[in-house]
Amino acid sequence: MAYRIEEMISEEEVNRRIRELGEQITKDYEGRTVRLVCILRGAVFFMCELAKRIELPVRFDFMSVSSYGSGTSSSGIVRIIKDLEDPVTDEDVIIVEDIIDSGRTLSFLKELFKSRGAASIRVCTLLDKPSRRAPGIDIKVDYTGFQVPDKFVVGWGMDYDQRYRNLPYIGVITGLDEE
Ligand code: IMP
Ligand code: MG
Repeated sequence: MAYRIEEMISEEEVNRRIRELGEQITKDYEGRTVRLVCILRGAVFFMCELAKRIELPVRFDFMSVSSYGSGTSSSGIVRIIKDLEDPVTDEDVIIVEDIIDSGRTLSFLKELFKSRGAASIRVCTLLDKPSRRAPGIDIKVDYTGFQVPDKFVVGWGMDYDQRYRNLPYIGVITGLDEE
C-alpha cells in the first residue's frame, strides 16, 4: 500500500472547536430539549464530545444510512440501514454528521425528518467539503466544525474502507492514486 496519512487537524483543535459548537447550540436552543440524531458510524465520536458540551436537556438517537460503497466516492443512492428508535414528531432535531461531501445523505435525511413532522431540523457537522456538492443539492449547514478542501480524510470516526476511525486526530490520505 503506497498511501500515507498526514495529520490535518489535531485532537486539541477538534476538541476546542467542539466546545465552541456546544456553547453556540446551548445559546441557540435555550429553554428547549434537543434531539441529537447521530449518523452512524462516522459521527459517533463527534456526537459524544458534542453532547457533553451542550448544557441543555438532550436526547440521543442513532440512524445508519449508506450512500457509499467501500471506496472513496458516493454511489448517489441513500439507503436506510438502521432507522431511529423514537419518532421525531414535534422534536427539535439536530442531525449530527461527521462530514458532508455531495450533500445527498443530508438532503435525504432533512426531507425524511420533515415528512415525519419534526418541529425543527438543523445540521451539525464536524467537517464540510463545500466544493464537493452534487449538482442540484443545496443544503443549509447550521453548525460546521471545519471546512476542508476536497481531500479524503480519516480519523475522529471517519474511515477509509472501515479503517482509521479510531485515530484521535483528523488525517488526510495521500498517495491513493499511486496504488
Ligand atoms: P454525502 O452524502 O456525499 O454528503 O456523503 C457523506 C458521507 O460520506 C459522510 O457521512 C461520510 O460517511 C462519507 N464521506 C465523505 N467524504 C469522506 C471522507 O473524506 N472521509 C471519510 N468519509 C467520507
Ligand atoms: Mg457518515
